[in-house]
Amino acid sequence: MDRQVKYTLPESEMPAQWYNIVPDLPAPPPPPLHPGTGQPVGPDDLAPLFPAALIAQEVSAERHIAIPDDVLDVYRLWRPTPLFRARRLERDLGTPAHIYYKYEGGSPAGSHKPNTAVPQAYYNAAEGIRRLTTETGAGQWGSALAFASSVFGLDLEVWMVRASHDQKPYRKMLMETYGATVHASPSPETAAGRAILAETPDSTGSLGIAISEAVERAASDPDVRYSLGSVLNHVLLHQTVIGQEAIAQLEMAGDYPDIVVGCTGGGSNFAGIAFPFIGAGLRGGKKPRVIACEPSACPSLTRGKYAYDFGDTAHLTPLVKMHTLGSTFVPPGFHAGGLRYHGMAPLVSLLQELKLIEARAYTQTTCFDAGIQFARTEGILPAPEANHAVRGAIDEALRCKEEGVSRTILFNLCGHGHFDMQAYMDYQAGKLEDRAYDEGELNAALAGLPRIAAE
Ligand SMILES: Cc1ncc(COP(=O)(O)O)c(C=O)c1O
Repeated sequence: MDRQVKYTLPESEMPAQWYNIVPDLPAPPPPPLHPGTGQPVGPDDLAPLFPAALIAQEVSAERHIAIPDDVLDVYRLWRPTPLFRARRLERDLGTPAHIYYKYEGGSPAGSHKPNTAVPQAYYNAAEGIRRLTTETGAGQWGSALAFASSVFGLDLEVWMVRASHDQKPYRKMLMETYGATVHASPSPETAAGRAILAETPDSTGSLGIAISEAVERAASDPDVRYSLGSVLNHVLLHQTVIGQEAIAQLEMAGDYPDIVVGCTGGGSNFAGIAFPFIGAGLRGGKKPRVIACEPSACPSLTRGKYAYDFGDTAHLTPLVKMHTLGSTFVPPGFHAGGLRYHGMAPLVSLLQELKLIEARAYTQTTCFDAGIQFARTEGILPAPEANHAVRGAIDEALRCKEEGVSRTILFNLCGHGHFDMQAYMDYQAGKLEDRAYDEGELNAALAGLPRIAAE
């Protein structure tokens, strides 16, 4: 009987290229627009925020982009990451399904986020930038960029969503240990933060607000650039090392997924695991069902509108076409800080419109139920964000059981939850509430969507 659990690739088989799904899509992605003119933004519009190499990747039509050697050298600290067959979870569920998970929690920050933090810091340093700004929700992205900034000798200022800041002092300390400066957002440091504080002094913040603060700081200082942990095409591109490795590892296991599952905040870890499989399907290969799992308290894919919107609350960013809950929507303070974003990556949104993916929304208690079952069988305590993918995978495995069908399910276990113990404590104490988002607030936020002549 085959008892193998771990499928590991040697460093020599780490992907040397990132995979860009754009040339394989049946329709081109709608361009980002300038908020003032309504016209597509050009490289010059983005230059105050991003280095030229990342702007080129953002609009690239090349299927493969070489990963620089200096980035591969840092990736080698934790990549390739293992693929596990979840045999114990399968037994516990009594399912005929084969469940595999790709584990990204072994990186320095504890999630998939360093896959893009490292190249972003590298390209900024290579173009002579010395300081970066960013936002962080769960604290995973801030930790990842703080680590990457320390590797490439950059200073970093992080705006951390207040809900997470107050709940996760150890994440803050990790960022400070790597040398970053951390502000709770909204903060009095920026005009955007001061405006929110004047209206809502006890604001728990949101990723949209934190992005505004970090963008404002970068846009007002020519020596500073901004770095985003999700949503943009180049971020999704960098994450495709996950899915490329998974394809090679499943080949070692003699399997191929019928179903691929990921959680979605801004869409980057989901894209990382799913795009290489979707691309293979678009090029004539097998077409797995691909399922995006999001929180029902911040349901951009399942209940948002596909429209041009701002990426941030203060409307400093270009307009992108995406599934959005409205840029002023502040989701309730639930325990998956990394999924509290009003929008969704334009590429993931487009795939949903093209019916190449499905989306599902889950309440937080049902996700924690799944995460605890996973921890008790497989041993790894997932990040609250990752619990959404665990939930999705378990539901599909239970469906296999009901139907008496064996399917192969692959999901991305995008991070560990070792800094998320307060969330687990609240869950164990029965304190987690499944708060629905406020329909009235959502409608107000959607009513404020920018009007675009081309739509
Ligand atoms: C562990 C973890 N998973 C998922 C996410 C959501 O981001 P994305 O959808 O870009 O992967 C975050 C964001 O902070 C995170 O920290």
